[in-house]
Amino acid sequence: MNVSRRIPLGLVGGGPRSLIGGVHRAAAALSERFELKGGAFGTDVSRNRAHARALGLDPERAYAGLDEMLAAESRLAEGERIEVLAVLTPNHLHYPMVLRALESGLHVICEKPFTMTASEALELERRARDGGRKVCIAHTYTGYPMVRQMRAMIAAGEIGALQKIDAQYYQGWINAAMHDAAMRQSIWRLDPARSGPSCCYGDIGVHAFNLAEYTTGLRIARVLADLDTFRPDNALDVDGTTLLRTACGVHGVLRASQIATGEENGVQIAVYGSRGALKWSHETPAILTHLREDAPRQVFTPGQRFNAELARTASQLPPGHPQGLAEAMANLYRGFADAIHGVPGAEERFPGIEAGVRGMRFIEATLASSRAGQTWMEISA
Ligand SMILES: NC(=O)c1ccc[n+]([C@@H]2O[C@H](COP(=O)([O-])OP(=O)(O)OC[C@H]3O[C@@H](n4cnc5c(N)ncnc54)[C@H](O)[C@@H]3O)[C@@H](O)[C@H]2O)c1
Repeated sequence: MNVSRRIPLGLVGGGPRSLIGGVHRAAAALSERFELKGGAFGTDVSRNRAHARALGLDPERAYAGLDEMLAAESRLAEGERIEVLAVLTPNHLHYPMVLRALESGLHVICEKPFTMTASEALELERRARDGGRKVCIAHTYTGYPMVRQMRAMIAAGEIGALQKIDAQYYQGWINAAMHDAAMRQSIWRLDPARSGPSCCYGDIGVHAFNLAEYTTGLRIARVLADLDTFRPDNALDVDGTTLLRTACGVHGVLRASQIATGEENGVQIAVYGSRGALKWSHETPAILTHLREDAPRQVFTPGQRFNAELARTASQLPPGHPQGLAEAMANLYRGFADAIHGVPGAEERFPGIEAGVRGMRFIEATLASSRAGQTWMEISA
């Protein structure tokens, strides 16, 4: 096992003006486990070549589209041709592109929401399993050291028996578009053909759901959702509140909104137990607060030797040096590379394909619950 071997990586999507492309490129570099070789960064090949040049890549490895890329890369020598594809396009392209990558024998990093439907996600899960390929879903927040500390402390029983989950993801950026029809037309996330059946829950609610399951280690079994499209001429949800119930009966609430005016990227997770609670907020990602009934509140920070191993392995800098989104994504890339190399325990350090399936089942259950008039819906295991 040569864990220091840099795995050749290709991108589809993630062009120069994309939101998430730069985060993935930075993450791949920071991880020191991947080498970006090329990509189909957008649909215009001359722009893709210019982008490759700007990144210091061989412009011959900038392609017009995914099919051309997979065919050309398959002709290159082993060790040079890409082994992992990161799928960073709008949502409707995830399923066909991941399918093509798996058929070509590649491992895949895919953005969320994984697919447009749960049945597509299950199909990809089956293909990956049959082909012995690995898939990482880019739930970036699970890469933060203090989110990992939270998972480890809950698993170790530090807050006792769990009794309440409160997950929140509030943004305000779609508010302006709700009051401007022309602006609404320009946002692919509001277009069912490109976004899928949900805007807010597919885009950000699914991150909150993933955080609830990742930090607690529990399965959300049932949901009761009240989603809102806000305007009669807007097809997809932009806000929603959902009650959660885990398989073992813990109650919770998940709030997600893109019309929470003035909010930026307000991701928060709080878990309450019989002896205490743990709270984390993306606006202060280096702080994990431990609330206790019988003692003053305690603050955990990254990089400390007394942190859990899962958190320690997510910090590359000494305590007090800020780490952000790219470093969190790099932790997913690092865990994924280790898993490909067969390092024991690596699977806990990135969200696998099961997280993609769970996310799609959650989205479908919340939509069904809300449409049925806010009734409880099961999320199948
Ligand atoms: N993990 C996170 O926190 C996070 C954050 C933002 C976005 N995302 C997800 O990342 C994905 C992309 O979102 P974004 O905000 O970067 O979108 P974007 O619109 O900013 O960028 C999309 C990119 O895909 C390219 N593209 C479109 N069609 C293509 C095709 N057929 N072939 C190749 N490239 C193509 C575009 O040229 C562009 O570069 C979405 O699924 C989104 O949900 C995840």
